Amino acid sequence: MAQERTLSIIKPDAVAKNAIGEIESRFEKAGLSIVAMKMLQLSREQAEGFYAEHKERPFFRDLVDFMTSGPVVVQVLEGENAILANRELMGATNPREAAVGTIRADFAESIDANAVHGSDSAESAIREVDYFFRGDEICPRA
Ligand code: TYD
Ligand code: MG
Repeated sequence: MAQERTLSIIKPDAVAKNAIGEIESRFEKAGLSIVAMKMLQLSREQAEGFYAEHKERPFFRDLVDFMTSGPVVVQVLEGENAILANRELMGATNPREAAVGTIRADFAESIDANAVHGSDSAESAIREVDYFFRGDEICPRA
């Protein structure tokens, strides 16, 4: 299986509860390497652009309100099958449906405040990594 990169976000709810370290630890223990990271306070424009695919959905305004409610940590994870591996670590969008031991089962409160984001396909991973990081901000492992 080829090495992949995926875009991960620790959302404002998880940052607010001081869970950054525990969540990063899960990625590293699963064999995903953090090859870029930064903390950001998203503007509404940044959050709307990032979630543009959802702009007609009824939850879009609440999603943008939530994603701009406090700082987020954005990172690029690299490893074998990284996109799917990250989605499996995250668990289902609705934490009530998330498997035991997943990040959302352990840290998310609700479907809207659900602790983490992860790219859902190779195509979105490329777009999302590029949305937050310049090429020279990514430090691949030797
Ligand atoms: P989505 O891309 O469907 O989920 P995921 O984050 O698992 O890829 O939706 C993006 C975010 O929008 C989701 O993490 C939380 C929010 N959302 C809601 O608030 N209500 C909803 O019914 C859905 C589907 C998503
Ligand atoms: Mg999604």
